[in-house]
Amino acid sequence: MKFRSRLVVNLDNLSFNYSQIKKMAPQSKVLFMVKADGYGHGMISIVRYSVCELGIKDFGCATIGEALVLREELNDLEFDIYVFSDIQLELLENAEIYLKRRIIPVISNVSELDYILHTDGFQHFPICLKFNTGMNRLGLDPSDASLIINKLKQHRRGSIHHLISHYANASFPMASNERNIAQRDRFNELKNIFREAGIVLERTSQANSGCIEQGYGFEDTHLRAGLMMYGPTSLLPEFSSSGFFQGKTVSSLETYILRTFEVKAGTPIGYGSTLCPYDGLVAILAIGYGDGFSTRYAGAHLYHKGFEGVITGRVNMDMIQVLFPIEAKDHIKAHEIFTIWGKQDGDLLKFSAETKTIPYELFCSLLPRIPRVYRLH
Ligand SMILES: Cc1ncc(COP(=O)(O)O)c(C=O)c1O
Repeated sequence: MKFRSRLVVNLDNLSFNYSQIKKMAPQSKVLFMVKADGYGHGMISIVRYSVCELGIKDFGCATIGEALVLREELNDLEFDIYVFSDIQLELLENAEIYLKRRIIPVISNVSELDYILHTDGFQHFPICLKFNTGMNRLGLDPSDASLIINKLKQHRRGSIHHLISHYANASFPMASNERNIAQRDRFNELKNIFREAGIVLERTSQANSGCIEQGYGFEDTHLRAGLMMYGPTSLLPEFSSSGFFQGKTVSSLETYILRTFEVKAGTPIGYGSTLCPYDGLVAILAIGYGDGFSTRYAGAHLYHKGFEGVITGRVNMDMIQVLFPIEAKDHIKAHEIFTIWGKQDGDLLKFSAETKTIPYELFCSLLPRIPRVYRLH
């Protein structure tokens, strides 16, 4: 056993998920969201594979720091990088980075637009505008559209490189949810306003995973896919029938069994001496909160060789105790690889439902002590 615990990333599954999107929307391009270290899967390897093997040309980060690392590490490849939220355009050193490294900040307020329009060097820089169509987080106010058009015209800017809007409720039905309908209408209106004013929209995008899964946003040039590329649906369980996407989980979280032993009901185990509720077999797994396996996962169920176990007692920094029924005693042994998720369809979603987390969070919370290992099959 070379690794203690690891996240095995199956790149064939990434390719499969991408091909599913392309089947649904052959005309649209994918802007792949790889912020937060590729949703925990390792941004550099994910992007290298996506550029070289899948031909994806656009990637989304949240911070200028992430974008810079991506550009520096993959300097041999050609692709565009967008920074969506933490753009820090006002810092002089960042202006240099945007200009020299082909990193595109997503502008979400008028003062950032003014900065681009008035700062030397940015005369030909691509303008990417994100409008707040109802999410009320970041974004330009649609009522400022005429003001923005005037500013663009004053500076002889006849086009917007990318016009963006983002849904607050794409995990709810796109067809019937009133907020989704209102956001869609507002974005359509905005596109019309700019086009009627003679501003060319080179690229447009509105769809994140939930929206793409339901077949919406395909009239735009780009789809901004995040979670679905990594496999899980982002639709809420009660709305899963609204979606047309059957992804494959790209990652599988593996650890191994350090030790097993039989316990009687009432035996105290681990920190805090939790009493075992019944006779059983305890397996000590080599993963804990030092790996990003949260203390909040205590009580969740895990599966091994067809037996259901429960995380019993406290999650430690380096270990967890999983209590199995006593019938498992001749089957579950020390040193076996133990898969937390990624073995069976739906096990990740089940674990996330039970632990009251979301799949995004499960992925992103894994810490560097978990090596990311890449496989093609
Ligand atoms: C602006 C923007 N677009 C697209 C996405 C991708 O969302 P998802 O992972 O749900 O596809 C995100 C993620 O948060 C985002 O912030």
